[in-house]
Amino acid sequence: MGMSKLGQALTAREIFKLVEADLRRVEEKMGLESISSVDAVTAINRHLQQSGGKRLRPTLVLLACQLFGEPSEAAVAMAAVVEMVHTATLVHDDVIDEAKTRRSQPSANVLFGNQTSVLAGDWLYMQAFQIALRSRNFRVLDLLIGLTQLMVEGELLQLERLGRLEISEADYMELLDRKTASLFSVCARLGAMAGGAGEADEAKLGEFAWNLGIAFQLVDDVLDFTSREKVLGKPVGNDLREGKVTLPLIYALEDATPAERQQVETVLRERSYESVSFATILGIVMRYRGVERAMERATIFTDRARVLLHQFPDSPYQRALLSVTDLVTSRDH
Ligand code: IPE
Ligand code: IPE
Ligand code: MG
Ligand code: MG
Repeated sequence: MGMSKLGQALTAREIFKLVEADLRRVEEKMGLESISSVDAVTAINRHLQQSGGKRLRPTLVLLACQLFGEPSEAAVAMAAVVEMVHTATLVHDDVIDEAKTRRSQPSANVLFGNQTSVLAGDWLYMQAFQIALRSRNFRVLDLLIGLTQLMVEGELLQLERLGRLEISEADYMELLDRKTASLFSVCARLGAMAGGAGEADEAKLGEFAWNLGIAFQLVDDVLDFTSREKVLGKPVGNDLREGKVTLPLIYALEDATPAERQQVETVLRERSYESVSFATILGIVMRYRGVERAMERATIFTDRARVLLHQFPDSPYQRALLSVTDLVTSRDH
């Protein structure tokens, strides 16, 4: 990349180019590490890997690493580990949410059943930890195990709150932290560690990714209202149907009329859009600027992320990470 690029934003394509070769190594590693002596596990793992996904978390690991050093075998291994942990959480999440679609395909629970999916998820977690264990680095295990507990607790808290209209913004933010931001933070930290970063830099980059992760989940929750299934790869309006009141709706409910609140309650109670259509709910959310306000919140977090990143020297990798923050708020899937 020439000097003319200094300080300039990178496109998604250019970001991908920076990590393309290493991401290929990550895919290879995941493929090799997904083979079990039990065919059912191997089959479900193959389906999961082939169904794709954005590979945002391994990309974070690799870019974080390259802020400090060349991507080593360790960075590739850590990138595979975080994607496997992410995949395991998605498989379990789809069982819990009774999801039908993931990444534009029938979800694992639909194809393989709940029992097999739960066990395959368990297997994937343990396989990820096995790979991590090979680093013989207790800090790595500490981060990953703590993270997994946070995420599991997050899913439990979400379950407890299912179907409740009165969710505070603070409760909601706690879920974002646990479900998504913590994993993003660990991705950056593991990458930084693999690149040989000092503790202060590792922590700062972790904070950057945490803010990015919060914004990412905020946008995921916005897209659940504003996107279309074809683009998103999972149905829209799904969160409310599953009983989840997310920030765009929390904001709208602050100003909604009693009649409008009742309509939201009806969907929560029936867990379907039969009596009250999704269009009606979307109308309420838009009327009170729920989407706009949630996106404004997301921008606050990406702004914070950028401020943290500007404390690192300019390089193609630093610029790529800066551009990732833009892509997170402008993405459509
Ligand atoms: C889905 O994550 C779960 C959330 C945290 C919203 P991604 O949107 O990164 O899923 P894939 O891996 O690209 O499918
Ligand atoms: C994110 O929660 C999943 C995890 C991080 C475990 P969601 O339930 O919002 O994710 P999607 O919308 O199913 O991808
Ligand atoms: Mg879900
Ligand atoms: Mg979602």
